Amino acid sequence: MREACIQAKIIRSDDPTQLILALEPEAASLDCRQRDLSEFVDETLNGTPPEVIACNGPTYMIIDNGGGTVDITVHTINNQAVDEVYQPTGGAWGGINVETEFENLIIFLFGAKFISNFKQNSPAEWLEMMADFEMKKRSPQFVSSKASTRIRLPHAFFMNGSLMARAKGQYKPCDVKLHNGYLILSYEVMSNLFLAPVENIIKHVETLVNDDKLKNLSIIYLVGGFSESRLLTKRFEEKFGSKYRIMIPLDASLCVVKGAVLFGLNTKAVQTRICPYTYGSDVSERCDNVKCNKKYAVTQRGVCYCMVFRTLATKGEKIKVGDTRSFKYCPLFPDQTSVCFGFYTTIKDSVKYVREPYVKKIAEIILPSPDTTKGKSRLLKLDIEFGNTEIKVTTLDKESGNVKHLSLDFVKG
Ligand SMILES: Nc1ncnc2c1ncn2[C@@H]1O[C@H](COP(=O)(O)OP(=O)(O)OP(=O)(O)O)[C@@H](O)[C@H]1O
Ligand SMILES: [Mg+2]
Repeated sequence: MREACIQAKIIRSDDPTQLILALEPEAASLDCRQRDLSEFVDETLNGTPPEVIACNGPTYMIIDNGGGTVDITVHTINNQAVDEVYQPTGGAWGGINVETEFENLIIFLFGAKFISNFKQNSPAEWLEMMADFEMKKRSPQFVSSKASTRIRLPHAFFMNGSLMARAKGQYKPCDVKLHNGYLILSYEVMSNLFLAPVENIIKHVETLVNDDKLKNLSIIYLVGGFSESRLLTKRFEEKFGSKYRIMIPLDASLCVVKGAVLFGLNTKAVQTRICPYTYGSDVSERCDNVKCNKKYAVTQRGVCYCMVFRTLATKGEKIKVGDTRSFKYCPLFPDQTSVCFGFYTTIKDSVKYVREPYVKKIAEIILPSPDTTKGKSRLLKLDIEFGNTEIKVTTLDKESGNVKHLSLDFVKG
């Protein structure tokens, strides 16, 4: 994101303070907390939010049901600021999966070959049809009235005779039909398209709420555009409503944007975060040429070194915003004039080598170290500031005073 903003000339590369990155569910959390009760669905009272929202103690979950992803965070209020209780979690279960289900349905009805040719030959008409579906999918009437949904189909679809034959085997005539240029889907068929996408989210949330760390959970906020779907919110109420208070802002899709503005004004609103991954840097350790596992080793100047994962922060660790950790390094060779620091993440709690499975390199810094007078006794310092929405890395070559900075995404593995 930062690189894209620099390339688009929205910010300058020499002034990182021009851009603050906010995490979507976290931003939404700030917006939800300062809202009036009357700004939530089915909340009839006016005035300031009740104590459960404002005072110390309660743990709440924010679920940002977006287009592509569902992002979840869990907070507890601590002196008007918030502590993160659980590492950010989620998956690719956003509202676009309903479109995927619709696409699967029309592939079933019209055949994969016809649909793939149509997409390739008439992309504009395809997009128009999908936009019509998206509009109908958002319509509150289709849920409240349980009426059929009419989707305008491109002309070519009516030249394809396979629909009725395929539909007959699987659907009743009243469930799927073609009429006057429209594909007409009954409420049952239309709502079925939401089933798998919604259940994927429910399943994940069910696992989370059973975690011991969330035993004080009392409120679930549903934000993001997909939370405007009554089918999704109804399912949440059925599944979790008896145990938790489900709160849905009236303009759920705007919560993130409004909250991002609030976060920009008060970046200290979140005071601790939970590390979503284990982070590490690489260190070359001399090893036994014969015995060591060749998968994890490199040979440099005829000597065998293992690329060891040096843990900088561990998954699940509670980190105070601004917590800076310092690590010392030295060059591998006395005449080395630059040093490369590699940075890695892993979903595992701990690993030994950077080349193990589930370890991903996310960045590197090349630090010039031109003054080789002290040979291998040169001090190289790595300061790493955790807990913000970005991890700030600073490397220093003590001899030359050379400094290099880097920013890493806190939640990207
Ligand atoms: N009333 C509605 N019923 C069903 N789905 C809806 C409704 N309103 C919006 N959506 C869906 O919500 C999604 C968009 O949500 P949102 O604007 O929060 O996503 P985003 O922030 O762009 O995506 P992401 O967070 O994944 O990057 C789309 O899939 C859209 O179809
Ligand atoms: Mg979003």
